[in-house]
Amino acid sequence: MSSIKIEIITGYDEKLIAQLVELQKKALPPHMQITEPATYYKEGLQDRNNINVIMRDRHKVIGYLLGIPQGNVYEELRHWDPEMGDDPERLYLDMIQVLPEERRNKRGLALIQTVCAEAEKRNLFKLSMHARTNTGWSKYLQNLFADIRFLRQIENWYDFGEPCDYLEATTSLNTT
Ligand SMILES: CC(C)(COP(=O)(O)OP(=O)(O)OC[C@H]1O[C@@H](n2cnc3c(N)ncnc32)[C@H](O)[C@@H]1OP(=O)(O)O)[C@@H](O)C(=O)NCCC(=O)NCCS
Repeated sequence: MSSIKIEIITGYDEKLIAQLVELQKKALPPHMQITEPATYYKEGLQDRNNINVIMRDRHKVIGYLLGIPQGNVYEELRHWDPEMGDDPERLYLDMIQVLPEERRNKRGLALIQTVCAEAEKRNLFKLSMHARTNTGWSKYLQNLFADIRFLRQIENWYDFGEPCDYLEATTSLNTT
């Protein structure tokens, strides 16, 4: 039987924050490391309007996804993508990460399936995201979502020194 569990959570304790900080150290490449990761995760987890998806193998956190209503994040993101607008009915996928040794095993897919199901429960049927181009992730997402549009490419997204594609989709996936 699989020991993998996925859950949607709101709120946090210090142990969870420490686990997420550890996760991002291993999961994000050096140029994408978050400057103040504990603050980032706390802010994400304490807002009930966000969707936080945590994946664990027994007690170990192996994956995480954060969705934030676009209306709550577009002002900050406009610095990097001036065309981003307010859209109260759209959920922005701010972060997805899986431990390197767990990848290519549909863990990322499971996180996305979970956020889509939860978004639909909250009557949110539209998504947006800036997806990495060079890793193939953006192409993968463009095939995964049943209804997805590529709007533009941002050459140096978030000063990461690599491009990301801005994509808008509905929550239906081709696999379901
Ligand atoms: C992106 C990420 C979450 C994907 O997790 P995952 O568990 O490997 O996801 P899945 O196994 O469900 O599917 C990954 C698919 O994405 C594509 N993909 C993702 N990363 C890839 C890579 N480095 N090289 C080639 N294809 C890649 C593949 O098409 C793959 O599908 P396949 O294995 O069936 O061919 C993981 O690679 C990660 O944490 N990366 C670092 C953080 C990051 O880049 N986040 C995205 C920011 S936009």
